[in-house]
Amino acid sequence: MSEPLKVGIAGLGTVGIGVIKILTQNADIIEQRAGRKIEVVAVSARSKSKDRGIDLGAYDWVDNTADIATHDNVDVVVELIGGSEGTAADLVRSSLDNARHVVTANKALIAHHGFELAQKAENNGVCLMYEAAVAGGIPVIKTIREGLAANKFRAVYGILNGTCNYILSVMRESGRDFYDVLKDAQKFGYAEADPAFDIEGVDAAHKLCILTSIAFGVKPDFDAIKVQGIAQINSTDIAYATEFGYRIKLLGVARKIEDKIMQVVEPCLVPIDSPMGIIEDVYNAVYVEGDFVETPLMTGKGAGERPTASSVVADIIDIARGVSVPTFGVPANSLKDAKWIDIGETNARYYLRLAVIDKPGVVADISAILKDQEISIEGMVQRGHDPGQCVPIVLTLHNARHVNMLRAVSIIKDLDACKEKPCLMRIEEL
Ligand code: HSE
Repeated sequence: MSEPLKVGIAGLGTVGIGVIKILTQNADIIEQRAGRKIEVVAVSARSKSKDRGIDLGAYDWVDNTADIATHDNVDVVVELIGGSEGTAADLVRSSLDNARHVVTANKALIAHHGFELAQKAENNGVCLMYEAAVAGGIPVIKTIREGLAANKFRAVYGILNGTCNYILSVMRESGRDFYDVLKDAQKFGYAEADPAFDIEGVDAAHKLCILTSIAFGVKPDFDAIKVQGIAQINSTDIAYATEFGYRIKLLGVARKIEDKIMQVVEPCLVPIDSPMGIIEDVYNAVYVEGDFVETPLMTGKGAGERPTASSVVADIIDIARGVSVPTFGVPANSLKDAKWIDIGETNARYYLRLAVIDKPGVVADISAILKDQEISIEGMVQRGHDPGQCVPIVLTLHNARHVNMLRAVSIIKDLDACKEKPCLMRIEEL
């Protein structure tokens, strides 16, 4: 049996504690699979005195987190602090520079600095692993990067944020209010430290950025993603979507069209019984279209202590086994600068909810604006009768150019009769 692999953990939040628990509870099977013991030797976090529900007395407490990178006894630095800059980024850079393997769950860091860090890992002959950064407990990175390595991909898309999927599912099932359900997601440890990252789509975009890089061999480019969150969705949208046969899902979609790639994160309507429509609660799903494998779908819990810790430890086991794969599946210097598709030039069917004054001529004005933008109405619903008051009108629209749709919405929004920001969502027949 080889020497134990020695691990230092920086960050003892939900996931950090989960990693210690799984390494302890499943030590036997992990040792058998890794071919050696995996030992936590050092830990670091902001507060030493905080009660985390487990005994940390056996580990060397490192006051200055940065010192984990140069700790004499540490082979693998597990970074679970989070954030694309600051302590986490400094620690990961320094660990790689000091020839320590790094395992992280930090999608923001990989999305923003993945190319530079991949180069650093290669130059120093160590691994940079981040399975837990995307889709929590589902091994999507390993599956796409290794299991499906023989395929050319046409698309990768999915439900990449457990908090949003949980909120949308619970709102639909229980009729509860958005922010009330968000509090539960925070309590269960699903949400980011700043939950705005979840509900504004930023967390899903970090993950999509990473998947795009692996699937298409391009440098991660977070700024190339068009991002929209779920905060504008209300119970009317959820009810109408259901009535029309759809679920509302925050989707991340990366698609290759000829030599260009489109990347978008936004709430969409998907058919209730489609692969994405059936994914509920905190579950994530990632779907790929490969030329030989066709369309595998991976699903599982996308957030929370145990699923995320499971992925962190899978990476540690790979390092213990001596498995070494380039960070994004290809040598860093061969990653290309992608050519990105202008989302405005894409076409889709749309759902549009308006809150307008119930008075003569309003629907005629809306139809005229849509006609001017060459947008054809597929269906329209106005329930209730409240002359002079605000009522919801919901339209579904035939395939339209995105830029025309945005132009129409911006003109409609300025009508005197329009009393709220319109809610526009793509309808995806995925
Ligand atoms: N906040 C994230 C989510 C956690 O809800 O999916 C996993 O990255």
